[in-house]
Amino acid sequence: MKQITTFDAYLRAYEQSIADPEGFWAAVAEDFQWHKKWHKVLTWNFTEPRVSWFEGAKCNITENCLDRHAARNPNSVAIIWEPNNPAEPSLHITYQDLMRRVNTFCHALKKIGIKKGDRVCIYLPMIPEAAVAMLACARIGAIHSVVFAGFSSASLADRIKDSGCCCLITADAFCRGEKKIELKKIADEALVHTPTIQHCIVFNRLNEPINMLPGRDVWWQELTNNCPDEFSAEIMDAEDPLFILYTSGSTGKPKGVLHTTAGYMIYTAYTFLNVFNYQPGEIFFCTADVGWITGHSYLLYGALLNGATTVMFEGIPTYPDHGRLWDITDKHRVNILYTAPTAIRSLETFGTDIFKTKDLSSLRVLGSVGEPINEDAWRWYHTHVGKNRCDIVDTWWQTETGGILISPIATVTPLKPAYATLPLPGVQPVVVDEQGKELTGSPAEGNLCIKFPWPGMARTVYGNHERFRQTYFSTYPNLYFTGDGCRRDAEGYYRITGRVDDVINVSGHRIGTGEVENAINEHPDVVESAVVGYPHEVKGQALYAFVICTQKIPDTEKFGAEVREVVAKKIGAFAKPDKIQIVPGLPKTRSGKIMRRILRKIAEGDTTNLGDTTTLLDPSVVEAIIAGSR
Ligand code: PRX
Repeated sequence: MKQITTFDAYLRAYEQSIADPEGFWAAVAEDFQWHKKWHKVLTWNFTEPRVSWFEGAKCNITENCLDRHAARNPNSVAIIWEPNNPAEPSLHITYQDLMRRVNTFCHALKKIGIKKGDRVCIYLPMIPEAAVAMLACARIGAIHSVVFAGFSSASLADRIKDSGCCCLITADAFCRGEKKIELKKIADEALVHTPTIQHCIVFNRLNEPINMLPGRDVWWQELTNNCPDEFSAEIMDAEDPLFILYTSGSTGKPKGVLHTTAGYMIYTAYTFLNVFNYQPGEIFFCTADVGWITGHSYLLYGALLNGATTVMFEGIPTYPDHGRLWDITDKHRVNILYTAPTAIRSLETFGTDIFKTKDLSSLRVLGSVGEPINEDAWRWYHTHVGKNRCDIVDTWWQTETGGILISPIATVTPLKPAYATLPLPGVQPVVVDEQGKELTGSPAEGNLCIKFPWPGMARTVYGNHERFRQTYFSTYPNLYFTGDGCRRDAEGYYRITGRVDDVINVSGHRIGTGEVENAINEHPDVVESAVVGYPHEVKGQALYAFVICTQKIPDTEKFGAEVREVVAKKIGAFAKPDKIQIVPGLPKTRSGKIMRRILRKIAEGDTTNLGDTTTLLDPSVVEAIIAGSR
């Protein structure tokens, strides 16, 4: 792949990608290993919708991630693993070694009958086996569905059921910072509700005593024993599913976003190489968990597709102290650091003394992802981490987009703090007003849509194509609607302003208000609830729950703790509301719709201008809520 190294080259590539998208992406795809080339680069419409890239082509993504590099540079390091406890040794896994481990695990999966098209759920901590499991699934053609290890048993069960997984891969337990998480125990609670799971493979991480159900549960270490380390990859069609990843939306249960093989491969490889300006031999450190899309696309696939060295960190930025990310950076001489604004803001609260003892001179490029990065955090990152010499790439994208869509190209695009700047080649963003009219001039402010397909985009919601159409392609005809608002300035630079739907971004975790409300409503004393987001200094946004109770609550603190516990049990600890207010009623219209706009204002502490409240069934409720919010 040709790397973009000047702004002029970017402009030319962009122009070409718009004038001749098929020619542009075909040229990018040339450099990959194919069993058969495509007969048609792109077929699409945004009404059904149907999008198909590289039709007729055959390949396996893992041959491009592993075999190519293992043949050329067998001893170059693919994964550097950094454990939670810095006293435990880190691991350096070469491309050859990683390929062997993946092959061995392919045999293990085959041995228990997993075949192409089967769904395999991966519920693992940040250990190399998570990467091995994902790649082995891809190599045998099984569809992986990774569930972040911070999710509760109920969430795990829901995800397993929704995609009918036949196998679960998990670990006995692991530590995040000081905290031990008994993963198998949580998985066991889920497995009671998931009859489709025939096998549960358990990696022994901490040697914890756990229950193993004979006939279903098997140790990773035992299953892989004596398995050969060579395996020929299943040959996949370009549009064969690669993975499912669940994400929250404004309504209903989480959606199983489905990504397919060739388009995702080309797109993550291309964007990794260009956005981070990756140079051969460099060390890339993405702090995201493999349970999220950033972990899939950049920690794993994008990095390996480029033969890069990727750092996988099991722990958290504040353990054993708040210098951990800088220690890892110095220890492994990290060149590119990719993290989230919430991590930056939380480290910012500790001050800058820590930097006196850190070197950080290996850093060259810094990345930000997951939520808008405010100017303050941008400058702190730039000054104290990047020492004013590293470009910051503020990368905007989503689970559904598969890869980065709007972002600076490191060393190439002139930066502007808090701006994701310009669309990458092949990406055609449009800003529309409420009525769906495209705002062609700049500056402009409105909702962000994309009007042309890019190879990495999701193809469907697993098992529910109508929901896919409805969610992303029905708001505005012939456009993919992102759910984000944005501003485009006079120079054409994009600034993402946040979600315009009922999705809330808490510490970079995407949370649907409906899901949290459903969880809160499970508390026996709760009649109804409404959850909104409000600005939070570190988390970006936090959750504020307004709750109607069946009776007078004598101990509101105890009640609050119980409500948070229900949310942790139903979803995961990261979704616990920061504020819980018991209210006598909710501001509803005559047709019964909750006016969240009003609740958002109250949560923000801005009660001076609540807008029009005349359509409310009972306007006095608003006064009561305001009085109780003080
Ligand atoms: O609101 C946008 C925000 O995160 C949402 C996507 O979340 P998720 O699917 O979990 O993927 C996160 C990692 C790609 C978007 O709709 N978001 C993501 N990146 C940015 C962002 N908001 C502002 N600036 C960003 N760089």
